[in-house]
Amino acid sequence: CGIVGYVGGRRAVDVVVEGLGRLEYRGYDSSGIALVGTDGELTVEKRAGKLANLRSSLAGYPVPPVTTGIGHTRWATHGAPTDRNAHPHTDCHERIAVIHNGIVENFAELRAELEDNGHKIDSETDTEVVAHMLEEFADLGLAEAMRRTCRRLEGAFTLLAVSVDEPDTVVGARRNSPLVVGRGEGENFIGSDVAAFIAHTREAIELGQDQVVRLRANEITVTDFEGRPVPTRDYHVNWDASAAEKGGYDHFMLKEIAEQPRAVANTLLGRIDVDGLLTLDEVRLSAEELREINKIIVIACGTSYHAGLIAKYAIEHWAGIPCEVELASEFRYRDPILTRDTLIIVISQSGETMDSLMAVRHAREQHSRVLAICNVNGSTIPREADAVLYTHAGPEIAVASTKAFLTQLVACYLVALYLAQVRGTKFGDEISQIVARLWEMPARVEEVLSTMEPVRELARSLADERCVLFLGRHVGFPVALEGALKLKELAYMHAEGFAAGELKHGPIALIERGLPVVVVVPSPSGQRVTHEKIVSNIQEIRARGAKTIVVAEEGDTSVEPYADTLIRVPAVPTLLQPLVATVPLQVFACELATAKGHDVDQPRNLAKSVTVE
Ligand code: G6P
Repeated sequence: CGIVGYVGGRRAVDVVVEGLGRLEYRGYDSSGIALVGTDGELTVEKRAGKLANLRSSLAGYPVPPVTTGIGHTRWATHGAPTDRNAHPHTDCHERIAVIHNGIVENFAELRAELEDNGHKIDSETDTEVVAHMLEEFADLGLAEAMRRTCRRLEGAFTLLAVSVDEPDTVVGARRNSPLVVGRGEGENFIGSDVAAFIAHTREAIELGQDQVVRLRANEITVTDFEGRPVPTRDYHVNWDASAAEKGGYDHFMLKEIAEQPRAVANTLLGRIDVDGLLTLDEVRLSAEELREINKIIVIACGTSYHAGLIAKYAIEHWAGIPCEVELASEFRYRDPILTRDTLIIVISQSGETMDSLMAVRHAREQHSRVLAICNVNGSTIPREADAVLYTHAGPEIAVASTKAFLTQLVACYLVALYLAQVRGTKFGDEISQIVARLWEMPARVEEVLSTMEPVRELARSLADERCVLFLGRHVGFPVALEGALKLKELAYMHAEGFAAGELKHGPIALIERGLPVVVVVPSPSGQRVTHEKIVSNIQEIRARGAKTIVVAEEGDTSVEPYADTLIRVPAVPTLLQPLVATVPLQVFACELATAKGHDVDQPRNLAKSVTVE
């Protein structure tokens, strides 16, 4: 969900709706705004569906030219995505309007209490309960009412509220979900991320856990839930406004796929010192602490989880430390054996994924050390971790992750090499050789991007297929999983990834005449044995009628007789192959979904940042 608030001298409706537009990438299924004026009037407009629906409702009448407002894009959790359930929600007398991200877990209990006190609660949402609670405390002023309300709420929430009694004020509160203030001149902004206000100001203030902020045109006051003032941290946002826009591409996703060479280079920049040694200065764990680590568990969700699966190969190979990889949502509900000598590596593009955040908290409670690999500066997960390595991919707007994934891989390689360096399993020369190969990767990814026309053509020709399978071995297996995930997310097609060795244990039963199967082939030199085995697998599926789409290294002629379509990628060291092999699968899914007429930036039912469990 996205949140925007504004108070200043301009027409709030314009600033807020524009801000919501910049947050569309977060995924949503309804939107709404609330405006307050000095005449004591509250204007609320909300619509199910895309922001265009809200814009056309607002065009239907003279919207008051007031200068205070809040807006929201909602991704349904409690209650269906309808006009009525859309935010903002108001109190009984329509004097207070509230928007909310997250879930109030004790809302049923609070609702019963409020109904006993005579409140009539209209919608099925947990948010409306908050509006009515604010009304209960309204005499104390909006900021104090918010603090008292927050003290009663359980769960994760970001809240913004306006009241006709204070038409020059927006109040915000934060627990677990993100909220950032944008400091302007004679105007202030607030948003669920900086994209909401980056067109107006780059000066931001990060709100901490359990804090309430009162914004006026010339004043920003931050307190804890008890009303005690708290120090704030100002920072300058480096992302330029155009980075958050499409820059000439039809879709953010296309732009982000094209940005991958630069993103990979940015992740590598500044990580190597003059002696060719890795210096990951954001890793605030001493060499001694890192030498004590005897087990690594990588936790993540979605595409980031696939980066984690690849990290395991690199960590075990280079650093020689046992490594497990687990979905964050599973990790904390079993009884993982964690000690002080377990290093948790959490991978999250947004740094806000609730499942990953909860897994981090669980691990820290057991005294494990946590290293975050993250793309969003100052987000919650890196702030709660012992150490962080930022991926520097720049803002990723399309819901399906592309450039963030490639930079996560680079970050994982760097962590593995760094561990190898401090533990002495690899030495300076060897590390600088691998790092030199890593530095070739932006150019290799660029090469792949320049040869994608046949892949796009292939994708268009498969737009009517119902199912596509993906096979891989070694690091090609997670690549196959990621290729399948992209196709599910974007094209809404049945797509599965399998380890090619498992074919004979089940998936081969799915093969029938004409079924497209994408096979990611390991390097014949780096992975001789798995290479031979996968060539046999390709023959087995082809003999059963599959249409084989083979992703193989340049110069690998052994696959030619069995490939109905051959997609060439440059020859690179085995462990780095995912950086080149994933790109054609991203382009494939994006083109196929576009051919089907889908919105690739905002696929149905998905959100960029899933801040609920
Ligand atoms: C959502 C997104 C995915 C992403 C996953 C994990 O499902 O749609 O693209 O991979 O969350 O997000 P994170 O921000 O933790 O990497």
